[in-house]
Amino acid sequence: MIRSRDSFLQLLLAFLALASAAPATAQRSSAARNIDSLLARMTLEEKLGQLNQLSVDSVPIPEDLDLVRKGLVGSFLNLTGAAATHDAQRIAVTESRLKIPLIFGYDVMHGYRTIFPIPLGETASWDPEAAEAAARVAAREAAAAGVHWTFAPMVDIARDPRWGRIAEVSGEDPYLGSAMAAARVRGFQGKDVRAPDAVLATVKVFAAYGGAEGGRDYNTVDLSDRTLREVYLPPYRAAIDAGAGTVMASFNEIGGIPNTASPWLMTTVLRREWGFKGFVVSDWTAVAELLNHGVAGTRADAGKLALEAGVDMDMVSRIYVDDLPALVRAGRIPIAVVNEAVRRVLSAKAALGLFDDPYHGATVEREQAALLAPAHRQLARRVAEESIVLLKNDGQRLPLGASVKTIAVIGPLADDQVAALGSWAGRGDPKDAVTPLVGIKARAGSVSVLYAKGCGITDTATAGIADAVAAAKQADVAVLVLGEAGDMSGEAASRANIDLPGVQQQLLEAVHATGTPIVLVLMNGRPLTIPWAAEHVPAIVESWFLGVETGPALAAVLFGDVSASGKLPATFPRSVGQIPLYYNHKNTGRPTGPDKYTSKYIDLPVTPLFPFGHGLSYTTFAYSDLRLSAPRIAPAGTLKVSVTVTNTGAREAAEVVQLYVHDEVASVTRPVRTLAGFRRVSLKPGEARTVDFQLTAKELGLYNRDMKFVVEPGKFRVFVGGSSVGGLEGEFEVARVR
Ligand code: BGC
Repeated sequence: MIRSRDSFLQLLLAFLALASAAPATAQRSSAARNIDSLLARMTLEEKLGQLNQLSVDSVPIPEDLDLVRKGLVGSFLNLTGAAATHDAQRIAVTESRLKIPLIFGYDVMHGYRTIFPIPLGETASWDPEAAEAAARVAAREAAAAGVHWTFAPMVDIARDPRWGRIAEVSGEDPYLGSAMAAARVRGFQGKDVRAPDAVLATVKVFAAYGGAEGGRDYNTVDLSDRTLREVYLPPYRAAIDAGAGTVMASFNEIGGIPNTASPWLMTTVLRREWGFKGFVVSDWTAVAELLNHGVAGTRADAGKLALEAGVDMDMVSRIYVDDLPALVRAGRIPIAVVNEAVRRVLSAKAALGLFDDPYHGATVEREQAALLAPAHRQLARRVAEESIVLLKNDGQRLPLGASVKTIAVIGPLADDQVAALGSWAGRGDPKDAVTPLVGIKARAGSVSVLYAKGCGITDTATAGIADAVAAAKQADVAVLVLGEAGDMSGEAASRANIDLPGVQQQLLEAVHATGTPIVLVLMNGRPLTIPWAAEHVPAIVESWFLGVETGPALAAVLFGDVSASGKLPATFPRSVGQIPLYYNHKNTGRPTGPDKYTSKYIDLPVTPLFPFGHGLSYTTFAYSDLRLSAPRIAPAGTLKVSVTVTNTGAREAAEVVQLYVHDEVASVTRPVRTLAGFRRVSLKPGEARTVDFQLTAKELGLYNRDMKFVVEPGKFRVFVGGSSVGGLEGEFEVARVR
């Protein structure tokens, strides 16, 4: 692995020299030839201008539009709307010397106007097809509103729920995360990114941003190469293999090298190993932040480090455009490096078709027709229903039965339209969101619904608790909607404590003390520590932030119109003291046991409150007849694993069948189990279905002591069930190659 910058640069220059020496031949497409001819006509300033991305508040300021005229801006972010983007684009393509179109980027994370569940919540559906369809809708709306390029999907692995950005990712597992990453890329980009309903995707934030120490946003990351490659990198790779057009470099360092200045990550891994052909954009002011990291003493040095590492576009720092011309003229940055970055950016613009239609088909009429279209809301509702996880349901408290005549809906999140959308809600409008209270009222029919807020989300005032208690006393069931405000997760929203904020715990205990049966509905962007609730509340529903259709989706599950079917994409710890806590941990030399000198805490179990993959249903499923296609396979062979799943209860419901593997003896330590397959199946009462999985080198391999990816011979164990705990077990062997 090449970590030294100088040797890297030599390699890069050799590579570029080879590339430019290659005969300009028939294989080169006409788009590439056009880009060559454009490059030949560009001044150095115009070239660096293409690498300059500026943010816009609502409309660009005149000074920024002048920069567009001078060819000194390649992209705007946060400028949206067909009319506003047209105005800026018209200047670029009619008033600038070379008429190069701008590319408009925006964070379309879980919907543009029709807001879907937050990515962590949507992942709880374990339904990549649903995630793809949701991303398709988001792309359709965003593209109609002039957006060319979304800064999504975010695919970091998060093993630390204190990190607020866990809300934006797919949780703790690389296999599930990879499936979701690829699905979202396919959804955003569609079959042809030139189509007027497609946007270019960004896989972000590269890499291992979720490994921040202490779960504190932007903090240092220090990981072994093995953990990086086995746990953190796979979802990025999956997104790139799915064709993601761009990558965003992350804020963090890994082991002393800020990613924004890491040629190893941005070029060796990304381009050489993985064959990525698109362009890399920095994160917001991350090029300038190399000064804070202490690896650059001047803005110019920061720019040089980032550009030479392989970060092609500078988001907001304005360093490339302001500080790099002098360095290039002084011979401190080879012009070939600049040309290569510009070529990548222009190629992305060409891939989007912007040289032919700089407006990418966006019109005010299309925008009006697309935003919040009824079909989009319908899909948002279905995805929201699938994302709800039933954590606990003692005594079949849910669904609410015919004996319930009065419901008290209580809690600071019960009627909060802003929170329902979660963080990074695009151009979502809280007014579009149906709250739990409104959804429950609409579904309740003749059942009467009382409401008491009880307390605020974070304030400490307790005066409202009495009203909540009074409402609960008059009701047959109290539905408490508790949790976090939408902006308590997401960027710069790490928490040192992840319990119910403010006096919500007090509210919960006061309502519980009335003796009225209670159902706890959680709204939050991360796993929470809720040990008291897990012990005392019979029914707990995890609803994340479900988006515009929060209320109807929640009501459908509470009343049993659909069964809950989500499964946790991240472990719920008992206490922050257990973090990091994740299912695919190692066994250690002293696995937890009754002996004192084993790996455990003296004051808390090592087990989670709710494990990865957990989620209950209104029906019951039986797993039987686990079959493996062979007792032994070759290292490059394929094993088929089949299991029969039967709905043994009285309701139609979906189950997420999960397959885990464990390599029993290997040259390096292996996780106790790793997810190696999953399938969401919907079964009618009494219906049985055989579910097949294929295990190949991809699922069975490991990075050996030489960091080579291999399948090692020996015994493997498989586990199949409805969560990461328990399940049917089988065994097979990978044969030694003679
Ligand atoms: C975030 C990115 C986001 C960018 C542009 C940054 O602060 O880290 O995820 O894409 O802003 O909005």
